[in-house]
Amino acid sequence: MTKIQNITILGSTGTIGVNTLDVIARHPQRFRAYALTANSRIEPLLEQCRQFNPVYAVVLNADAAETLRGQLRREGLATEVLCGPDALELVSSLPEVDAVMAAIVGAAGLRPALAAARAGKRVLLANKETLVMSGRLFMDAVRTGGATLLPIDSEHNAIFQVMPANAPDGLEAAGVSKILLTASGGPFRKATMDELSQVTPAQALNHPNWVMGPKITIDSATLMNKGLEVIEAHWLFAATPSKIEVVIHPQSVIHSMVEYMDGSVLAQLGNPDMRTPIAYALGYPERISSGVGALDLFKIARLDFEAPDTVRFPCLRLAFEALQRGDTAPAILNAANEVAVQAFLADKIAFMDIPRLIEDTLCSVSVGEVLQLEDLIAVDQEARQVAMSWIEACV
Ligand SMILES: NC(=O)c1ccc[n+]([C@@H]2O[C@H](COP(=O)([O-])OP(=O)(O)OC[C@H]3O[C@@H](n4cnc5c(N)ncnc54)[C@H](OP(=O)(O)O)[C@@H]3O)[C@@H](O)[C@H]2O)c1
Repeated sequence: MTKIQNITILGSTGTIGVNTLDVIARHPQRFRAYALTANSRIEPLLEQCRQFNPVYAVVLNADAAETLRGQLRREGLATEVLCGPDALELVSSLPEVDAVMAAIVGAAGLRPALAAARAGKRVLLANKETLVMSGRLFMDAVRTGGATLLPIDSEHNAIFQVMPANAPDGLEAAGVSKILLTASGGPFRKATMDELSQVTPAQALNHPNWVMGPKITIDSATLMNKGLEVIEAHWLFAATPSKIEVVIHPQSVIHSMVEYMDGSVLAQLGNPDMRTPIAYALGYPERISSGVGALDLFKIARLDFEAPDTVRFPCLRLAFEALQRGDTAPAILNAANEVAVQAFLADKIAFMDIPRLIEDTLCSVSVGEVLQLEDLIAVDQEARQVAMSWIEACV
């Protein structure tokens, strides 16, 4: 009998976290939800504790932790409640934890994901911001820590599935000529510049194919999500920017493709449901059921492809430029984007201000080398300050 694997889910109350628990619940003989974490929403976390009885539950804030602790005690549940960023790192690196699902949103996910990599865990990486901010540091931590890195983003998971085993020696050695990263194009794929300038948060939160948390949904609408994924693909697959091509594919059925030197193109297809990549990574190298229905090709009937338009969607261009620039440029891009998305959701800036704010922040903050984590934390803070001043000047 195989040993039950203990899983820490960072961000268990989010979209990826909930989908991960859904897959885990289907395989009680294989997986145990060992530690669950949230930011502040203790109601869904309490419900998860009732259902999964984890050893640890972590929240960021001390008051929220006290409330959760009291409620668990009243209900006779043994889950130990911890709080704060250090506790996130602790539950990511405990010796009894086998795998860590890194599904916190934004830069807040960086430290615990890094802790999991350094502790040599199987890291299921949904938090793309980790690789965008700290690509080299994180990949070094994976190598030196002896961790196994499995991408959760559906595109990178698809590429991982169709990439040959010798790809770590470089794309050329593996006979790969290009990575084709698919994108739905978001809800405004056909919108004019004029229409884009009028977009409201409610419209932007309405993604045509995927159900996701608010930040990534807005990133999908601006195409910044694809830009972040280009940077993620660069680090995961040692691909130079010229070897990564973005292809708009509105049906979101092909999750990405790999083009080989002999002209073959291998693709991974499936219904747009994150439980497929999650189950793939949890079960790897075995295949396990995910709860996702079979793909009905007759119902889909057609698959369309278009080139992206970086004039209407400048965020994609900005991400390519930040990747080319290297060093701390992607971390500046990421920080400015996080501030811009929050400001857009709070109705403080317009949709088309998002790329303007990011571009201005990239021009204002000096790019430097990344030697250690502290360099990234410092540039992240500086970029956030610059971006917030931009917003203050704008309102
Ligand atoms: N959703 C998708 O389909 C999808 C696909 C591919 C990749 N991803 C990536 O996966 C990550 C998670 O996305 P999501 O859509 O699941 O996000 P989400 O639904 O917004 O969930 C975010 C999770 O992170 C927690 N959290 C938020 N801020 C935190 C902080 N400062 N410190 C600690 N925990 C914090 C939240 O806790 P509370 O509930 O308490 O706020 C929640 O559990 C993102 O990096 C995203 O780009 C998502």
